[in-house]
Amino acid sequence: MYRFLIKPLLFLIPPEKAHHFTFALLKFVLNIPFVKYLYRAVFCINDKFLSCKVGGITFPGPVGLAAGFDKNALLTDELSVFGFGFIEIGTVTPRPQPGNPQPRLFRLPADEALLNRMGFNNDGMEAVANRLQQRKSKIIIGGNIGKNKDTPNENALDDYKLCFNSLFNHVDYFVVNVSSPNTPGLRELQDREPLTELLMGVQQLNNSKPVPKPVFLKIAPDLSYSQVDEIIEIVKLTHLTGLIISNTTISREGLKSNQQKIQEMGAGGISGRPVRQRSTELIHYVCKEKNAPFDVIGVGGIHSAEDAIEKLEAGAKLVQVFTGFIYEGPFLIKKINKRILAQRRLGG
Ligand SMILES: Cc1cc2nc3c(=O)[nH]c(=O)nc-3n(C[C@H](O)[C@H](O)[C@H](O)COP(=O)(O)O)c2cc1C
Repeated sequence: MYRFLIKPLLFLIPPEKAHHFTFALLKFVLNIPFVKYLYRAVFCINDKFLSCKVGGITFPGPVGLAAGFDKNALLTDELSVFGFGFIEIGTVTPRPQPGNPQPRLFRLPADEALLNRMGFNNDGMEAVANRLQQRKSKIIIGGNIGKNKDTPNENALDDYKLCFNSLFNHVDYFVVNVSSPNTPGLRELQDREPLTELLMGVQQLNNSKPVPKPVFLKIAPDLSYSQVDEIIEIVKLTHLTGLIISNTTISREGLKSNQQKIQEMGAGGISGRPVRQRSTELIHYVCKEKNAPFDVIGVGGIHSAEDAIEKLEAGAKLVQVFTGFIYEGPFLIKKINKRILAQRRLGG
């Protein structure tokens, strides 16, 4: 029904408008009495074999919603009915900011991909913290944090600390995002010195809290193996909970879509099927080849149960979806959960 009816209709509308329209529709429909319960009954699987412990948190299921889908925590209660084990909100910055001018989100249907240069459009940490405080569902929430566009990299730590403090009582884990390609210079924070300083600062603040929270670092798929080696050392040094692999790619290699159209779309990060292989390779490299002693959340191009299993077999403990949710629809989460459950019951 989604693939053959809802998606073709939604794909008639420009992508960002379709996103807002879907949000408004879900907010309306899922607040009709009992509809949430109905959706839960259809989409959710409650089974102890699906649960997994990462960073001291027991996740009821291994499939989460990736950052960027509900940047402003507008729909966490409603989205929780689709069977996600957790939802990552953000990227949130200290001050609200509009992001890049529109259009800034494009579909590449031939590649089952999206190109975005949203640029951390968000309502700012205070508005998001207030919204999270009012939420009703108990779904596990990740707080993905970043810096404002006009904050120079030298002062980035201040922005991350402000967001960390503001969201601390409202999220279950944090993600330090230094891998968006759409905030000028942000990815330079993945370099050895600034990254060490940033993560040390965040962890110092975290450790000053009575009960610190798990902290992950989200990295780009475009890093070289030697850069990843450096990052592994820094994650170990700063005792982070782990890595989220990966964000969108700036590579345009191997795309089937019309080259001229891609060029006309301009700068941005590609998500969906084209990032699947690279993100899995990086997960495998970190978990299997480097045997890194921390946890990995795998994300990038998961459009089927097989894609999710591939990431788990590469060493990820949890996975997240974004573009696959748009192309495949909400049953994707149930399909993945069912397949993982079947494997785990068989002891696989
Ligand atoms: C429109 C859009 C906005 C995104 N915004 C963010 C963001 O704010 N912060 C972040 O860490 N990742 C963001 N991402 C990246 C996703 O969380 C995910 O890492 C990436 O899309 C790869 O997963 P996918 O192939 O399942 O989409 C965004 C992705 C898209 C498509």
